[in-house]
Amino acid sequence: MTPGIAALFDAALAAKARAYVPYSKFHVGAALLAPSGCIYAGCNVENAAYPVGNCAEASAIAAMILAGETRIVEALVVGDGAGLCTPCGGCRQRLREFAEPGVAVHVAGDEGLRRSFTVEELLPASFGPDNLTS
Ligand code: THU
Repeated sequence: MTPGIAALFDAALAAKARAYVPYSKFHVGAALLAPSGCIYAGCNVENAAYPVGNCAEASAIAAMILAGETRIVEALVVGDGAGLCTPCGGCRQRLREFAEPGVAVHVAGDEGLRRSFTVEELLPASFGPDNLTS
């Protein structure tokens, strides 16, 4: 793991520990690196009205926006289970709003990095902010 990925991993893992998941029991943490060098983290937050729950990526994006940043240069998601906790479809689009197609999205488990993707790999031929301005 590079030092940059390790910093994202540490932040995401700490966020994952705070996940509010009484229904799925599936803990997820996400961390986003912004151009300033700051890392913004978030966890999933479920709700008794299931569809109202938030994914970890959405929580991390909210923290980033609250801090006044709007660009993601690298991202990492860590989730429970043996499988790859890749961002859900909605979160791929959420990430795309603030990340160029070439941005790396790392997927980890508690033990460390499992696999790295780009935004373009996760969401090919995406619709993004540029579609509305050109
Ligand atoms: N979850 C995330 O936080 N991010 C994803 O990209 C995939 C799914 C959460 C939502 C829900 O709280 C739990 O994982 C099970 O779906």
